[in-house]
Amino acid sequence: MFYEIYMPSYKDSNGDGFSDFKGLISKLDYVQSLGVKGIWLTPFLESPKVDNGYDVSNYYRVDSAYGSLEDFKTFLKEAHKKDIKIIMDLVVNHTSTDSKWFQESKKSKDNPYRDYYIWKDQPNNWESFFGGSAWELDKTTNQYYYHQFDKRMADLNWGNPKVVTEIQNVLRFWLDLGVDGFRMDVINFLTTDGITKDNPMKDGVQEHLNDINQKGVKTAMKSIKSVVNEYDNRFIVGEIGSDKIEVLKQYQSPDLLDVVFNFNFGSIKEFSAQRIYDELQSMEKNMQSYPTLFFGSHDMPRLVDRLAKDNPERAEALAALMLTAKGIPFIYYGEEIGMENIEANSVAEMMDIQGRINYDLALKDGKSQEEALKIGNRHNRDKSRSPMQWNTEHLAGFSDSSSWIKVNPNYKKLNVEMLETQNNSLLKEYKKLIALRNSEPVLQYGNYSQLSFSNDCISFVRTYKGEHITCYFNYGNNPLEIKVKSNEKILSGKSLLQPNNYLIVKGLSSS
Ligand code: GLC
Repeated sequence: MFYEIYMPSYKDSNGDGFSDFKGLISKLDYVQSLGVKGIWLTPFLESPKVDNGYDVSNYYRVDSAYGSLEDFKTFLKEAHKKDIKIIMDLVVNHTSTDSKWFQESKKSKDNPYRDYYIWKDQPNNWESFFGGSAWELDKTTNQYYYHQFDKRMADLNWGNPKVVTEIQNVLRFWLDLGVDGFRMDVINFLTTDGITKDNPMKDGVQEHLNDINQKGVKTAMKSIKSVVNEYDNRFIVGEIGSDKIEVLKQYQSPDLLDVVFNFNFGSIKEFSAQRIYDELQSMEKNMQSYPTLFFGSHDMPRLVDRLAKDNPERAEALAALMLTAKGIPFIYYGEEIGMENIEANSVAEMMDIQGRINYDLALKDGKSQEEALKIGNRHNRDKSRSPMQWNTEHLAGFSDSSSWIKVNPNYKKLNVEMLETQNNSLLKEYKKLIALRNSEPVLQYGNYSQLSFSNDCISFVRTYKGEHITCYFNYGNNPLEIKVKSNEKILSGKSLLQPNNYLIVKGLSSS
C-alpha cells in the first residue's frame, strides 16, 4: 500500500511556501500513525517547476525549494527507521528545456547532445497532451523540437542508446542511495521509434495512436527494469497513460513493470456502483498479478467531489473497498481526511500549466475571459493539489508564512487535528481499515473466490492459506440483511447493512 505525497503541498518548514524534506520529516510520525508502509513522492529533483517538478533540469540534484541532498538522505533514513519505504517519481520521457542536455542540444545540429532530443525541419500533426501542437521552432538552428507536454518540457529521444545509458546511470545513482523504487512517469509515452505517421482525427479530436505505445517501448522498459533488478527488494510502478485494460496489462510483467498505475478507478467521474464492479471484474479477468487501486491522484479531482459529495458514509465505504479489494492501494494525501477540491476564481489563482495552456488557447479562440476561465478550470489540475490541512492555524498549519497555491477555505472545519479527536471520523476509519489490512494476510495476498454484484451491493470473498474474508459494500438505497454464520466473525460493520455501509467478515474455509 502506498501514500502519495504531492511534493510541494505537504508541509513547509522554512516559510517559502513549498513543502520540503524537513517538513516531511516532521510529519513522518503522522504517516506512520496511518499504518502506511510506503510513500510515493512526486518529483523533487531540480526543476524550474513549470509542471511542479515533472520538468527535471538536473537528475542528480534535489530542488533547493525542497532542501538539499543531505536533507533527502535524512528523510530516507528516518522513513526507513519507521519501516516506511520510499519510491520516487522519475520522469524520463522528457526533461526541462533548462537541462544541460537540452541547452547543449539546441546549440547546433552537430552538437554531441543533438540526438538526445527529437529535432525535425517540419512538424507533423501530433498534438501536445496539454493542448496545441507538440512542436516548437527553435530559431538557433531553425528546426522544431518535439514536446508531448509543455514547450519547456522537451521529449528525450529513446531511440538514442546514449539516452538509455544516461537514464540507467540516473537510476543507479538513486538506487545506490537507498530508494526503494520508482514510479515511472508516462512510461508508455517514450518516443522509441521516432516520429512516424500523423495521428488520425476523430470528431475533430486527435487520437493518440502513433505517438504513444510505440513498438520499442517494451525494450526501453526492459532497460529500466534490468537496472532495478540489479538491486534486492526494489519496486517499480509505471504510469501508463490509458484507462484501457488491454493497453495496461501488456506492460505488467517481471521484466517490464512490477505493477501499472491503472486509471480505470481514477477515471470514474461520477459515482456508479455498477461501474466500480465492472472495473473490479475487468481487473480480475485481465491483470496477471496485482492491479493498483486508487480513486485519486494529483492529476484528478478529489475523490469526495467526484464520488461522495456530502456523503461521508460513501467516502468510508469507498475507502473500505479500496483497502480490501485485491490489488495495491494508493491513498492520495488528504483523502484520509476527506479533503475537497479548490477552484481558481481568476487566472492569477490558476497554477497548473495544463489549466493555463487551455485558458490561453480559449482566449486565442476568441472566447471571453470568463469563458476562458471556465475552460481553463475544466483542465486545471490544481483542484486536488491544495496544501495538506493539519489544523485550524494560519494556512491550515501547512506553513507559517505563505503557500504556493491557495489553501482550501474549509480547513477550519476539516483538518487532521480535529479528525484525530472526533469519534468515527473518516481519518479513524482509514486507520482502522489500514490496520485491518496490515494484520490480515488474506487482505494483502488473497485471491477472489467470488466477486459479485446484486441489489447495488458489491461483494467479494478473498481466500489465502485456508482462510477467507468476505466483504460487502451496500451502495443501494435500502438496508440489506447479511447472514453471518456462527463460525464466522465480524471484523467490521453490522450484519444489517445500511446504505453506504460495509461489512467485513472472517471465516475458516473448512467451515
Ligand atoms: C504524468 C504526471 C503529470 C504530468 C505529466 C507530464 O501524467 O502525473 O502530473 O503533468 O506526467 O510529466
